[in-house]
Amino acid sequence: MTLAERCQKVMPPMALRATNLGITKGSGAYLYTEDGRKILDFGSGIAVCNLGHNHERVVEAAKKQMDSLIHGCHNLVYYEPYVKLAEELVARTGGNKMLYFSNSGAEANEGALKLAKYHTRRPAIISFTNSFHGRTIACASITGSNAGYRKYYEPLLPSVYFAEYPNLFRTPYKMVDGKCPREYMDQFDVMFHKLVDPSMVAAIILEPIQGEGGYIVPPVEWLQHVRKVCDEHGIMMIFDEVQTGFGRTGELYAYQTLGVEPDIFTTAKALGSGFPISAVIGKKEVMESWARGAHGGTFGGNPVSCAASLATLEVIDEENLLDYCKKTGQYFRDELTKLQAEFPDRIGEVRGVGMMNAIELVGEGNVPDAAFATQVSNKALEENLLLLTCGVDKNIVRFIPPINVKKEEIDEAIGILRKVMK
Ligand SMILES: Cc1ncc(COP(=O)(O)O)c(C=O)c1O
Repeated sequence: MTLAERCQKVMPPMALRATNLGITKGSGAYLYTEDGRKILDFGSGIAVCNLGHNHERVVEAAKKQMDSLIHGCHNLVYYEPYVKLAEELVARTGGNKMLYFSNSGAEANEGALKLAKYHTRRPAIISFTNSFHGRTIACASITGSNAGYRKYYEPLLPSVYFAEYPNLFRTPYKMVDGKCPREYMDQFDVMFHKLVDPSMVAAIILEPIQGEGGYIVPPVEWLQHVRKVCDEHGIMMIFDEVQTGFGRTGELYAYQTLGVEPDIFTTAKALGSGFPISAVIGKKEVMESWARGAHGGTFGGNPVSCAASLATLEVIDEENLLDYCKKTGQYFRDELTKLQAEFPDRIGEVRGVGMMNAIELVGEGNVPDAAFATQVSNKALEENLLLLTCGVDKNIVRFIPPINVKKEEIDEAIGILRKVMK
C-alpha cells in the first residue's frame, strides 16, 4: 500500500491531501517520492521551507540544540535560543517592538486578536473578503474566502465585520489612471455609520498580500488609508504575515516591502524553516499593556524551533537572500510575463512581490477558469513540478519556491509550465 492509501484508512476525508505523493526525502527545491520520482517543489510546504527542504545549516542547528534542550517551557524558564530569537526579531523590525511566540499561524492570529481586544478593551473586529487566517474558531470567524471553512461551525465569534479587499484586476468599480477606486477607502465611513461605531472596533486585520484568496497585491495607497483610519479611531492595525513573512517578499516582512507599518503583526510558516513556531509581534507600547497571564501556551518558542529559526536568519544574512529574492523574483515574474504574451487569452494577470507570485487563469471574457487551473497543476505534477492553486474562484496558480531557488530551477519550472499550457 502507498503512504496515501495507508493514511486515508486512518484519517477522515477532511484531511485528504492535494496530491497522492508519498515523500521519503526533501532536499533544496526538490522532493523525492516513495516510487522514485524527483519533484521540483514550487510550494515549499505552503511557504514554509524558504531555504528549501532540509537546509544543512538548519538541520545542524536543530541537531545541536536537541543535544542540549528539547523543551524548556517558556512559562517556567528562560533559555538562550528563545531569548536570542526574540532579540533578533525585535532588532530586525525596528527595535521598538515586543513579541510572544506560539506554534502555528492560527495560534498567532488568535493571540493578535486577543491582544487587540485586551489593549483597546473593545469587542469588534473588521476583516476582509477573500481573506484566510487559519482554522480555529476565531480564525474561521475572520476568514472570508471560503464558506466551507465556516459551514456547520456557526455561530462563530460575534462582532466580526467584513470589508472589501481591493482586487483591482476584478474590481466592479471604476478605476481612474490605475488608481485605487474611492469605494475601497469610503467603505470604512459607511461601515462606521451604518454597522459599528469605530469606538467599538478593536482591530482591522488583513493580509498585506492575500495568500489563499488569490495572491492579491493591494494598492499601497489603500493600505495607507487603512493605516489612517486606524490612527484616527485608535484601532489596532493587524497584519497577518503568516504567508508573506520571513523573507518571502524580499524584506523580512511584507510591511517593510510595502512601507506601511501595522501596530501588531503575526509570523509563522517560514519562521522555523519547517519546525513549528509562530509569533505575535507588536509595538512596544501595545505589548506592554498585555498583563502577565493574559495569554499563554505550553509549547510556544520551542528551543529546537528557535535554533532552526536563528540558523535561517544567519543564512539569509550570509547569502544576502533578501536581495536575491527581490532580483530572482523579478526574473521569475518577467518569465511569467513572457508566458502570458504566448497565452494572452489564458493568463489574465501575472502578479506578485518577491518570491510570492501567481498567474490568474481565465477563459473567454476573462472569466475565472478553475478547471483549467486544476488541469495545469495536475499536468505539471505529471511532469514532476508541484504547483499549488488558490483564489476564491480557484483559478490562480501560485508559485512559492524557496527564496534561494536557482535561476535554472525557475527555467525548469517555466519550461514545464509552457509545455502543459500548450
Ligand atoms: C495568511 C495566513 N494566515 C494564517 C494561516 C494559518 O496558519 P497555520 O496553518 O499555521 O495555522 C495561513 C495558512 O495557510 C495563512 O496563509
